[in-house]
Amino acid sequence: MSWTRRHLLDIQSLTAEEIVTVLDTARALKEVGRRAIKTFPALRGKTVVNLFVEPSTRTRTSFELAEQRLSADIVNFTAEASSLRKGETLKDTARNLEAMNVDFIVIRHSAAGAPHFLARVLQAHVINAGDGAHEHPTQALLDLFTIRERKGRIEGLNVTIIGDILYSRVARSDIWGLTKLGARVTLCGPSTLVPREFEQLGCRVTYDLKEAIRDADVINLLRIQHERQRRTMFPGVQEYIQFFGINPARMAWTKPDVLIMHPGPINRGVEIDSETADGERSVILEQVTNGMAVRMAVLFLVNGGRGPQEVIAA
Ligand code: NCD
Repeated sequence: MSWTRRHLLDIQSLTAEEIVTVLDTARALKEVGRRAIKTFPALRGKTVVNLFVEPSTRTRTSFELAEQRLSADIVNFTAEASSLRKGETLKDTARNLEAMNVDFIVIRHSAAGAPHFLARVLQAHVINAGDGAHEHPTQALLDLFTIRERKGRIEGLNVTIIGDILYSRVARSDIWGLTKLGARVTLCGPSTLVPREFEQLGCRVTYDLKEAIRDADVINLLRIQHERQRRTMFPGVQEYIQFFGINPARMAWTKPDVLIMHPGPINRGVEIDSETADGERSVILEQVTNGMAVRMAVLFLVNGGRGPQEVIAA
């Protein structure tokens, strides 16, 4: 068995084999989703707290549905409605949750490292649903799952990520996952948001869109993370669209079977126009569907699940 971890905190520390175990388990669980009885009660009697201290729609809903399908008891906890607003520290909030015998904490937080901190101080299993600009491991896993399902492999593919790389936790997790599984990663966007330092992670960096997308098998578009940018590092929306926006004219530069991906939320008309977002090369909604199976797989594995064979046998 190639999964023995109690938590999922990042992609950086996973081995390629562990990543593949998650993807294989998710594939088996996606099959369960097609059956008449869609539940797989691996988490019956366990309590999961969804601790979202930063806004989220897709990720939170997706985790919640995944938890329901695993028959867990679910508590939702959002920053606006909690004592975090009253100045309670993260550690105190977490200790209180633990005093209620919580088994899993799914956390989204604006501070990088918040999930790692909880994993150190608590007994519960911790799953990172996005920490600051650091990592968003389940997003990377669902991106890898979608690419593998569509292309049959990850190894040897050219994957281009366009946009605000500097402030993107999705980009960081994707880069780790893709390079570990043998893809060639190209980064493109305004130079203020795509520093050359990313070459040290094994990526190619280019500021020329045509060059970036010409040989791509997959193009992953990112939103400009205005909320994280401390200074104005963004050239302006019109300039961004002119140099980096994806639209049918730019699609003509790409391979005919390129996949268009986006973690959401999309800013239509900025990083991608509507025709391309809703077009036949787009797998954006498939990513959302696959997110559920991937999150089920992660919860199942950190709970001690044995991998895809246990799902298939059920
Ligand atoms: C991303 C996030 O929150 O990191 N969205 C998501 O999880 N689906 C990307 C973003 O906010 O742009």
